[in-house]
Amino acid sequence: MARTQVAIIGAGPSGLLLSQLLHLNGIDSVVLERQSREYVAGRIRAGVLEHGTVELLLEARLGERMLRERLVHDGVALGFSGRSLRIDLHALTGRSVSVYGQTEVTKDLIDARIAAGAKLVYEASDVAIEGFDTSHPKVRYRHEGRTHELDCDFIAGCDGYHGVCRQTVPPGAMRNFERIYPFGWLGILADVPPVSHELIYSNHARGFALCSMRSPTRSRYYVQCGLDEKVEAWPDERFWDELKLRLPEEVAASMVTGPSIEKSIAPLRSFVVEPLRFGQLFLVGDAAHIVPPTGAKGLNLAAADVRVLYRGLVDFYRTGSARALERYSEICLRRIWKAVRFSWWFTSIMHKFSDDPFAHRLQLAELDYLSGSTAALTSLAENYVGLPFEAAS
Ligand code: APR
Ligand code: PHB
Repeated sequence: MARTQVAIIGAGPSGLLLSQLLHLNGIDSVVLERQSREYVAGRIRAGVLEHGTVELLLEARLGERMLRERLVHDGVALGFSGRSLRIDLHALTGRSVSVYGQTEVTKDLIDARIAAGAKLVYEASDVAIEGFDTSHPKVRYRHEGRTHELDCDFIAGCDGYHGVCRQTVPPGAMRNFERIYPFGWLGILADVPPVSHELIYSNHARGFALCSMRSPTRSRYYVQCGLDEKVEAWPDERFWDELKLRLPEEVAASMVTGPSIEKSIAPLRSFVVEPLRFGQLFLVGDAAHIVPPTGAKGLNLAAADVRVLYRGLVDFYRTGSARALERYSEICLRRIWKAVRFSWWFTSIMHKFSDDPFAHRLQLAELDYLSGSTAALTSLAENYVGLPFEAAS
């Protein structure tokens, strides 16, 4: 029977980054992924990296292309009441964020892992985990028509929100916290220059809009939409018209439009499971928590989990001490809940929840307050650029 030290379920950013960092520290892992490599590498996701995430990617020795191609942003803008408020992230916090698509992070990770000869199994079906409450956990899966078994010391559940790992935990052993928002985001990718060199988050009576980008020639735009809306009802022209209506006039006037190369709708959700560890099983990234994309925290939180877990595993294999691993849940959850709070708050002040004019006036008052208060702006900025990491011991 095959054996590895850490069996990693899921080859999204969490699973790939974990296996890369473990490899650099002499720890063996096998990554099992349900989808094909092309499918995983082609998924369009978010694009803002916190400083700490950039540092972790550098620690994983895959920052070369990122350092070359990322766009460093010192600020973001909030649009409301027909105007644009620039938040100088760098002046307020001393930190910037990097715009570099998660799609690119994933490609860099796959390249690095394959170059290092990683055991990466794509199109692994029927993955099942067992015995994680003992010291001999096991993973079964099917690949190329055969059933395989993998013995391991630990299982890392990096298999996203719909993955098998969390679903295998007895319901009585965990607690779920969830909030579903009454709207989604309709996003498009287009090869047109971004309307602004920094991101614009816009509050409007018609609903939220976001102007983001992937490069100086590729833009990513979103508009808030109903949960029951279909992409087919949004031809490009309708999207561009609606986007422009939701932006300050001078921004809308300089918008360059063009054909979309991707268009999709995503629901918004906050979700946390507690705890994150069940015996030898650790839940990591989207398998353990989901935040609405407004705060740009999803990938960054996943990277923060990986950081704590890989250091705990390195400690365990080097010294035999499980102390850091025992604190995995507690350390990660403190950061997770702060990101859940920030993402919920930012979502709450920027989106249209109802036709209630009172609620909209409250949002505008909060945004107006922000614009006149360095304290309030600093609070937003320090959450947006990423809170400091907590020491593990
Ligand atoms: N068996 C094997 N693989 C699975 C299974 C399963 N039963 N279920 C899901 N997977 C795979 C998915 O196909 C996917 O490739 O696990 C992977 C999970 O990847 P992501 O969903 O990207 O989650 P994660 O790696 O934690 O990424 C962090 O933060 O908010 C987000 O957009 C952000 O996706 C990013 C995430
Ligand atoms: C994106 O570029 O896709 C993006 C940027 C910022 C967010 C969400 C998504 O808050």
